[in-house]
This record gives sequence, C-alpha cells and structure tokens, in this order.
Amino acid sequence: MNIIVTGGAGFIGSNFIFYLLAAHPDCRIVCLDKLTYAGNLSTLAPVLKRPGFRFVKLDICDRSGVFKLFAEERPDIVVNFAAESHVDRSIAEPALFLETNVLGVQVLLDACCSFGVQRFHHISTDEVYGDLPLDRPDLAFDETSPLRPSSPYSAAKAAADLLVLAYRRTFGLPVSISRCSNNYGPYQFPEKLIPLTVVNALRGRPLPLYGDGRNVRDWLHVKDHCRALDLIINRGKEGEIYNIGARVELSNLELAELIVKEVGASCDLISFVADRKGHDLRYALNADKLRKELGWQPTVPFAQGLKSTVAWYLAHRSWWEAILSGEYRREPPKL
Ligand SMILES: NC(=O)c1ccc[n+]([C@@H]2O[C@H](COP(=O)([O-])OP(=O)(O)OC[C@H]3O[C@@H](n4cnc5c(N)ncnc54)[C@H](O)[C@@H]3O)[C@@H](O)[C@H]2O)c1
Repeated sequence: MNIIVTGGAGFIGSNFIFYLLAAHPDCRIVCLDKLTYAGNLSTLAPVLKRPGFRFVKLDICDRSGVFKLFAEERPDIVVNFAAESHVDRSIAEPALFLETNVLGVQVLLDACCSFGVQRFHHISTDEVYGDLPLDRPDLAFDETSPLRPSSPYSAAKAAADLLVLAYRRTFGLPVSISRCSNNYGPYQFPEKLIPLTVVNALRGRPLPLYGDGRNVRDWLHVKDHCRALDLIINRGKEGEIYNIGARVELSNLELAELIVKEVGASCDLISFVADRKGHDLRYALNADKLRKELGWQPTVPFAQGLKSTVAWYLAHRSWWEAILSGEYRREPPKL
C-alpha cells in the first residue's frame, strides 16, 4: 500500500504517521508538507531515514509539484491533513485559509482523479456544523446536521467537504470524510488551548481564556483519532462521512483549572481576555455511526490522556522551546 499523507509535519498528521508505521509496517508513506509555521520537521526526525518513508516539502496548492509527486509515487490512498488550522489566524488572514483549505484540496482531488487513487480521505472538523447552545446538553451534531460554519476557518473546511463530495458525484472519485472534535496529545503546536495552557503554566505565565471561559469543547485524544482514521480508511464505506468524538465536554475554564492542577501551578494565572469574534459556544459530536458501523470506541480516558499529555510537554521541553524561540524554523533536520 502506497499512502500519501499531506500535512504530516503538523500535530495530527505526525501522530497518524507514527500510528500507521507501527500498525502497518509494510506500507509506504510519503509525507507531503509545505512546512508552514505549524509544520515541524523535527517532529518527524525519528522516521525521516526509515525505509518506506519519504518526506517531500511541497505546497498542496502547487499543481505541477503535486502532479509530479503523484506521477512518481502512484499512491493508492491519499489522506489529507494539510490545512491552515487556527481559527484566530483565519480571522486575521482569511484569504490564506481559502487558498490552502479549499483550492489546495481541489488540486489534490484533481491529482487523485488523474492518477486513479483508490481512496481520498479528507480530514474535516466538527466546526463545520457551527455551535450548540450552552443550555441544551441533550443536543449533539450527527453527520446529517446542517453545515453552519462560524469562522473563515470552518467555512473553508465546509467548502472543502462539499467539493470532496462533488468530485465523487461528478468524477466518480472514491472518497471519505471524517469530522473530529478538538484533539489533544503530543506534538500539538503551542498556540492551541491545551499546549498553550500547559506551556504557560510551566513558565508561570498568564493563562488567557476568551470571554468568561464558559465555552465548551469536546475533547478527543489524538491516538483515538488515529485509530478511527485507520478503521474508516480500511473498512469504512466509500462516499461516507464519519464523526469522530469521545463526548468529553469541558468548559475552557474547567480545562484550564485541571491543567493548572496537573502542572502544580496557581489558578491565579488564569486571566480572561476579550472574546474571540464569532466565538462558537459549544461543540458536541455524536459518533454513533462510527461506533455502530466500525466498532470504534475511545480508549484513552480523559483524565489519563491529560496527565500523559502534560507529562509529554514536561519531558519534551526542547521540542516546544525551539518553537517558542523560532529556532525550529531556522535549523530543520537534514533530509
Ligand atoms: N487539531 C484539532 O483539534 C483538529 C480538530 C478537527 C479537525 N482538525 C483538522 O485536522 C487537520 C490537521 O490539524 P492539525 O491540528 O494537525 O493542524 P496543524 O496546524 O498542526 O498542521 C497542519 C499541517 O499542514 C501543513 N500545511 C499547511 N498548509 C499547507 C499547504 N498549503 N500545503 C502543504 N502542507 C500544508 C503545515 O505545515 C502543518 O504541518 C486539519 O485539516 C484540521 O482542520 C484538527
């Protein structure tokens, strides 16, 4: 099996590559990544020289580069993680999100059609459904919920989902889509809530929370996400959309307090800042389809997952300190 993984130098993509290499040691993996600020080649250092693995620095918007790579590699499967992924940045610079998250996906879809790829799996997000009210804990999004994205990030992701489905209908491309809730675990860029809070708590810096901290997120350990993706790609029905979520709902304030406790810092570090524009109130995903059809269930209890994630950031200071100092972009490991 020849697999192209796009965005594999980022948080979830790198975890997925490590997962695949362990679960399917015979598959060949080509990681295509532009190495934006969110891509970190040092994360992939342990596998860069491994036989059956190749890293290619490439922008998914670069049509001729992508077609050349597909001609060389003739992939059976393409798994697309590549995206601009930070909502705040999409509010500051929406155009970049449309380029990568929509037009880049179109380039990949065209290449998949031209080279007869057997499955294009697209990583989407629960944010395409918009948000839920805080006072209706009974509600959760399933795969038939309408798309009501709130931010330029989620609108671009929703547009890509529709494009993927249109390529199936129009060109007969075999596709699948997964929509996951908020991930946490090792190698997450320290601008996202959990690593930012851990890293700031460890350094005694303020822990900024938007608004009153009551917004609720649904948390999924990245390992459980990777297992679900493996199942969907290998046994999931072509043409289907699968939600992936563990239904671990916490307000941002509750989460920050748990992290402060785990790190042994003071809750006085928690500070409230002006709310994000268009801030989604609550996410909650119904993943019954994935559980019933493919027998998936989360295996990492949140308390244990958070403990091990905090321990990982403690044990890998040099990984995030190189990001904070900018050194990770100056000295990439030799290929
Ligand atoms: N992190 C989450 O909680 C979460 C939740 C739901 C969905 N997702 C989705 O999962 C995917 C991966 O998210 P992540 O958190 O790992 O993101 P990330 O920001 O950590 O990594 C994104 C990776 O994509 C690469 N990239 C960006 N633009 C590119 C381009 N034009 N060409 C090639 N590579 C490019 C970056 O260099 C980086 O390595 C994204 O599609 C995101 O929308 C993430």
